[in-house]
Amino acid sequence: MTDRKGIILAGGSGTRLYPITMGVSKQLLPIFDKPMIYYPLSVLMLADIREIAIITTPHDQDQFIRTLGDGSQWGISLTYIVQDSPDGLAQAYLLAEDFLAGAPSAMVLGDNIFFGHGLPDMLAEARRQPEGGTVFGYHVADPERYGVVDFDSAGTVRSIIEKPENPPSSYAVTGLYFLDGSAPDRARRVRPSARGELEITSLLESYLADGLLSVKRMGRGYAWLDTGTHGSLLDAGNFVRTLQLRQGMQTGSPDEVAFQMGWIDKKALLERASTFAKNDYGIHLRALARETDH
Ligand code: G1P
Repeated sequence: MTDRKGIILAGGSGTRLYPITMGVSKQLLPIFDKPMIYYPLSVLMLADIREIAIITTPHDQDQFIRTLGDGSQWGISLTYIVQDSPDGLAQAYLLAEDFLAGAPSAMVLGDNIFFGHGLPDMLAEARRQPEGGTVFGYHVADPERYGVVDFDSAGTVRSIIEKPENPPSSYAVTGLYFLDGSAPDRARRVRPSARGELEITSLLESYLADGLLSVKRMGRGYAWLDTGTHGSLLDAGNFVRTLQLRQGMQTGSPDEVAFQMGWIDKKALLERASTFAKNDYGIHLRALARETDH
């Protein structure tokens, strides 16, 4: 089987965070000490994915390239793809079709932040699924803001509904999608919704209709953080800060993940640490290199 490839969708105009996002992409805003996109990128890396395409608006692409480069500092390969107009999440599979070249994929939204002890195992299981798709349902207080899972009385998924006025459950579908190589073909068959977008939920419905969609519940031991409002953005930053200060460990650090996966050696990690020598992130990376004997 071809190796699974990654996609990070980091387009969109981020109007809900205006005026902050009038001059800078949402996915580059800080979540405490790191740019937002570091967090979803780390998730793909934890899923053992090393070939990743980053989809951005035409005008933000340079900033992403400046921030992330070609990925070689982490032993991965980053490719950049432009989305001229944001016509829905499913469009990402059309834009990335050549990049994917038939491979299965894991797509994560550039503003989705996950944290949880069991994450690597959960990702490994989804990664191994050769056919169909895996998505994750997370219990939230405000399901109407998301794609929502409709379960029947036996707990089987009946449908997934985008931003329903009357949510059939409290389970939102998170922005992390493991789909097989048929995703671009299926995306081509998706028709624009009433709001004119190629909805990711319509693409997931196509897998569901073929009995090929697995919805895993991400339980209460996980944090799936919202970054969609000024308040929730600050909360996410504070969550990360609290956790990191207490544990003395990083969350959402591609440097740390690359080192743990064995994709970069101690020397490369120390080199990265020296780039950030003036702050706690650099100090942490240096300590990590010292305490491990790779
Ligand atoms: C998108 C999807 C929605 C999903 C959400 C997760 O919504 O359309 O199905 O639940 O991402 O973050 P958006 O937040 O782009 O409106």
